[in-house]
Amino acid sequence: MTVGDESYGNVPPAVAVEVEMIKNSFSVDKDTLRKITGHFASQLEKGLASYDSEIPMNVTWVTGYPNGKESGSYITVDMGGTNLRVCQVVLTEEPGGHNVAQEKFKLPDNVRGGSADELWGFIADSLDAFLRKYTVKRQSEKLPMAFTFSYPVTQNNIRHGILQRWTKGFDVSGVEGYDVIEQLEQVLQRKNLPVTIVALVNDTTGTLIAGAYKDPEIKIGCIFSTGCNAAYMEDVDSIPKISKSGLRPGTEIAINTEYGAFDNSHHVLPRTQFDHTVDKESTRPGQQTYEKMVAGHYVGELMRLMLVHLHKRAGMFSQSDCSKLNCNNAFDSKILAAIDEDNTESHTGIRDILKRFNIDPTPYELEVCAILAETICTRAARLYACGIAAICQKKRIQRCHVGVDGSMFSNYSKFRKRAAATLREILNWPDGSEDQILLCPAEDGSSIGAALIAALSLRSD
Ligand code: BGC
Repeated sequence: MTVGDESYGNVPPAVAVEVEMIKNSFSVDKDTLRKITGHFASQLEKGLASYDSEIPMNVTWVTGYPNGKESGSYITVDMGGTNLRVCQVVLTEEPGGHNVAQEKFKLPDNVRGGSADELWGFIADSLDAFLRKYTVKRQSEKLPMAFTFSYPVTQNNIRHGILQRWTKGFDVSGVEGYDVIEQLEQVLQRKNLPVTIVALVNDTTGTLIAGAYKDPEIKIGCIFSTGCNAAYMEDVDSIPKISKSGLRPGTEIAINTEYGAFDNSHHVLPRTQFDHTVDKESTRPGQQTYEKMVAGHYVGELMRLMLVHLHKRAGMFSQSDCSKLNCNNAFDSKILAAIDEDNTESHTGIRDILKRFNIDPTPYELEVCAILAETICTRAARLYACGIAAICQKKRIQRCHVGVDGSMFSNYSKFRKRAAATLREILNWPDGSEDQILLCPAEDGSSIGAALIAALSLRSD
């Protein structure tokens, strides 16, 4: 869009100029994408060598893939961004067979920002309710449980994990710097629940394992949701920081990259004034720089900040009461995706969304909203592709499938297409050739993947 552009004939010049500036600052060209990817790949490498590098490259102690013969009954508890999901997964005797019973519990807001006791108490109570509802037998032997805890942890083994830092807006006191398994286990024991935690699992590792179980071509497990991250299998000989682990040379071990922390030192990512504000307003300023430009917890806020900017700077929505728009985090990623995916000629979908904020938009304001959503989501998809391309570059993977879980990916077709097209651009596939790195929806990570990891952890005992 440029000033005077026919299709936006009625856009006031002051707004047009600002929108044009925003669009320019959010565009990432091919050379920049490649530069970011190259730097990203070198940072992944660094993280394998030391414990204090920017990208943590956390060792998960999940060694190798399942062989299809895993069986037994497992409880899985997944502490997601909005819900706690509790499942009983039965891996049946036939290869790949499973049954799942599941229940979701909404994580109350006060728990996200409360104390450790409140958090673990909520999880234990929800698990108790699940076990009662599904009359999971209280046998003398405790049921093996996998705990999917999707935050960066340092693990000495698979039943241990010291929380490095909260991400995605969580801010529970008394957990950072402590072993989350020990804390949760104490509460489970106090409440006499018949489970024993056998594995701490990151959602990316669960996605990798569950994905590869179904499709052996899956080499990377990714999440694109409230947060963003990826896991892949690394050869133990390529991980200098665990050279004394005693693992057999050649063993493959899953690395949870925690690459949301990429470029915390601000070398390559093209940050804008809106990114600075998102960071400043966040619960952990200075951290998760890449994630804050890409993931669901932040992209809605970017859009809201832009609209507030255009309102204050250029008089957009001057006929409306913008007090609701002025509340931090009033826009979530679902809203942003819905705006971007509204293909109606007169933008009725966008109009309905803005009405919820007491805004009665003019036609040009609707058009500007559509442009902003596309701008934010296109940058997110393009930067998102850099992380995957960097793993492929680092591992010299020419062809593979990438299992991707998360609402931002599965419910958002434009995003998937843009990310796939960007991989093509970065990795330079010839025109007309098929995609060599294929992004595939993969959704069983926190149940089947976690249960398989629990089974693997018991097998290696
Ligand atoms: C967390 C990761 C997680 C990702 C996706 C990030 O904020 O640090 O552990 O995998 O979100 O849920």
